[in-house]
Amino acid sequence: MSSLPSLLTERVQSVTGVDPEMRPATKPQFGHFQSNVALRLAKAEGRPPREVAASIVEKLQLDDLCEPLEIAGPGFINFRIKASVLARTAQELLEDERLGIPLTEQPQRVVIDYSAPNVAKQMHVGHLRTTIIGDCFNRVLTAEGDTVIPQNHIGDWGTQFGMLIEQILEEGIDASSLTLAEADELYKRAAAHFKSDDDFATRARARVSTFQGGDEESLRIWKQLVDISKPGFNEAYERLNVLLADDDLAGESTYNDDLPVLVKELEESGVAVVDDGALCVFVDGFEAPLIVRKRDGGYGYATTDLAAIRRRVRELDANRIIYVTDARQAGHFAQVFAAARKAGYLPDSVQAQHIGYGMVLGDDNKPLKSRDGSAFKLSDLLDLAEQNATPEIALAAIKYADLSSGLQKDYVFDPERMTQTTGDTGPYLQYAHARCAQILRTADAQGLAVGPITVLDEPAEQQLALLLSRFGEVVDEVAEALTPHKLCTYLYELASAYASFYEQCPVLKSEGEVRASRLGLCALTRKVLAKGLDLLGIEAPERM
Ligand code: ARG
Repeated sequence: MSSLPSLLTERVQSVTGVDPEMRPATKPQFGHFQSNVALRLAKAEGRPPREVAASIVEKLQLDDLCEPLEIAGPGFINFRIKASVLARTAQELLEDERLGIPLTEQPQRVVIDYSAPNVAKQMHVGHLRTTIIGDCFNRVLTAEGDTVIPQNHIGDWGTQFGMLIEQILEEGIDASSLTLAEADELYKRAAAHFKSDDDFATRARARVSTFQGGDEESLRIWKQLVDISKPGFNEAYERLNVLLADDDLAGESTYNDDLPVLVKELEESGVAVVDDGALCVFVDGFEAPLIVRKRDGGYGYATTDLAAIRRRVRELDANRIIYVTDARQAGHFAQVFAAARKAGYLPDSVQAQHIGYGMVLGDDNKPLKSRDGSAFKLSDLLDLAEQNATPEIALAAIKYADLSSGLQKDYVFDPERMTQTTGDTGPYLQYAHARCAQILRTADAQGLAVGPITVLDEPAEQQLALLLSRFGEVVDEVAEALTPHKLCTYLYELASAYASFYEQCPVLKSEGEVRASRLGLCALTRKVLAKGLDLLGIEAPERM
């Protein structure tokens, strides 16, 4: 179902031939929308704008949607949607389980690669962003009928295990008894040791090959580190209330057996060539080649990512692959995608996208760091927000702050501001929802009829109904362009429109059909707010 504004736009455009650029009217007496299309066309045609406006109005057949059109000022066309049309549309939405969210015509299998923390390390604020953003994409695409396959590409392999295993052996500790926080400390000790002690560094490097070569003792310790890390990740997911589950884990190590096969394929097809001892894929537009096998025979992060694409296309049947990581990995993914296309692992029919996000900054406008200078831990950030609000509100605040400005932008983590129940915040939306719920509880207690929506005569009611009719379209745009901030802006506008309605139109104190209609609007607003918040991964409380 198209929203009223877009339906109107389409109809006008079919007469004018150009986008009428409908703008919400600035004052109720101008109707609901205004277009300056006549002024624009007049310039090109060299005719007086009001005359052009009049001939457009004459050709437009909008009696079913609008009150008679008006020409205003120098040649603006004012559109006022009929109150009956608004009421009917709102009532249809109230009865529509999908609330106007379209189902995609061609459902896709979408792999979303997100979260991906690293073993033996606590999740930091960067992982907060990828986890929250990926979760939102997951929810929005699922709502439109796509099959989402989350892939949690955890860092459970790679060179860091050389130093970790050496450090564990040297300290003689039992890795299976560590908590994730303790493993994180161990990681820091190992890294410091690696820097300060050349002998240790040499042993750690040698350990990488022993370990990757299948040495039993090394693998046993590695497995212990992986096993103690997973509960820590799950704890964070639970605290964040996201959809990720153990089934979604597909860590780097799960590609080990594919790597030699892939490398052989690349070598045989000539896509990869030996350069200075390393096996490389050269891709146009990149200065340095992508190294699939290092001189010492080892495989790196990029090789694993090629193997991941190969599997996602061949075995998971993905039509679209979305990666959510720090914006600084943009170059890496651009090169991996290009190499994968060249190798035939990523056919043109499969879309691959990297969505890079900006950094979380402290109040000094610098990347948030913990006191010891290391990356700020996710749990500390949640603790900080919870100093200002209940866990539920704190989480809503964080998620909303994370999603409500363009993803690429850095944002300042300001727990005091973002937990406020006023202004452009998550808790404000939750509060609007709780207010809707409250009024519906009272209506229920008094045995009042909620809906049908039949009369909408007040400007505030009409604005609210117009906005509600746009919900599906907004969700659709977010699914297409992966821009959660647009959903945030929409919900903020909706909550504000609800506040004006609430102020200007008595609900419980009105009577008969008007009261039923207004309660119907409250019910619809509540549903749309709840669904919208749900798509952002935010809970919609009944009371606040
Ligand atoms: N583990 C990486 C990190 O913490 C992110 C992995 C992203 N996904 C991928 N397929 N490379 O930065």
